[in-house]
Amino acid sequence: MIRSRITGTGSYAPEKVLTNLDLEKMVETSDEWIRERTGIRERRIAGQEQTTSDMAYEASRRALDASGIKAKDIDLIIVATVTPDMPTPSAACILQHKLGAKRAAAFDINAACSGFIYGLSVADSFIRGGSYKKVLVVGSETLSKITDWEDRTTCVLFGDGAGAVILEPTEGNNAILSTHLHTDGSMWELIHMPAGGSRNPASEKTIKKRLHYIKMKGNEIFKVAVRTLEDIVIETIKANGLKPSDITLLIPHQANLRIIQATAKRLDLPMDRVVVNLDRYGNTSAASIPIALDEAVRQKRIRKGDIILLEAFGGGLTWASALIRWPL
Ligand code: UT7
Repeated sequence: MIRSRITGTGSYAPEKVLTNLDLEKMVETSDEWIRERTGIRERRIAGQEQTTSDMAYEASRRALDASGIKAKDIDLIIVATVTPDMPTPSAACILQHKLGAKRAAAFDINAACSGFIYGLSVADSFIRGGSYKKVLVVGSETLSKITDWEDRTTCVLFGDGAGAVILEPTEGNNAILSTHLHTDGSMWELIHMPAGGSRNPASEKTIKKRLHYIKMKGNEIFKVAVRTLEDIVIETIKANGLKPSDITLLIPHQANLRIIQATAKRLDLPMDRVVVNLDRYGNTSAASIPIALDEAVRQKRIRKGDIILLEAFGGGLTWASALIRWPL
């Protein structure tokens, strides 16, 4: 049986750090409120000229180096993002060119914060089906460019960054064991960017009304997120005939420490078996899981045979999980 395994990880965060104290000078908020309600202390902000594909490139180079494969050998690139360089072409096409990955087919996935796991799932299916053998999956976001820096309910939450993995086929058991994807489009309005698409094309009016920024009903999302994430982690563990105690490490989407703690509690996992880095990066949407995964790998928190659970929740609404028996 062919499965896919991760053979390299990489990540990148822009240099500029924006702290909670910096935000206190920009909107009516406080370091204490942000830390207590979210767990975030600081986030990274992309340079003015820096794009999603630039950051994706940096993370991808590191993942390629870690896996030992060459860009020219990649046969598929999937970029998960809600902040592509431009509406068309995809960030994946631009990344393909930057990497010189001439053989690779390339496309983006927009599943918001769940995007990386959606991308991983698509790549896994292609590898299992035999269509592709060396797949680059990236989550990369420049959320700072669609953040309303006058809206304290959102601007304290988001950050920029990118993470990447290389997937290759294996006949062994140390591989992606299962992926689980869910959507409930009836709640799409809870997180959306109203303008710039076919409903409200860009105009002077849309700019004046600040419609090119993310709008979010955080409190309503919070409740749905806690419930659905508790359900999906149990679904994932059961689908593999495992128990919560079999999980070595939980790598959750980094939106809110209280959401992460609720999921860990449902699994009865102590927090030292949960990867948390949102204090340093905030919510980087599709980039959060591959950044956290790469950091855990480089800190040697993951060993061969470990069972790693990834889970995410985000705009759409979408939620997703993946269970991996670590191969390296
Ligand atoms: O990435 C995936 C999708 N997104 C999420 O998963 C986000 C999920 N939601 C959350 O993380 C939380 O709901 C937030 C962190 C966004 C908000 O925390 P909360 O505990 O749900 O706060 P709230 O929205 O209920 O607001 C509580 C109060 C309000 O004031 P009143 O009405 O009680 O007087 C807000 O106006 O806090 C106020 N508030 C702030 N105060 C200081 C909202 N934002 C801020 C702020 N600083 N930045």
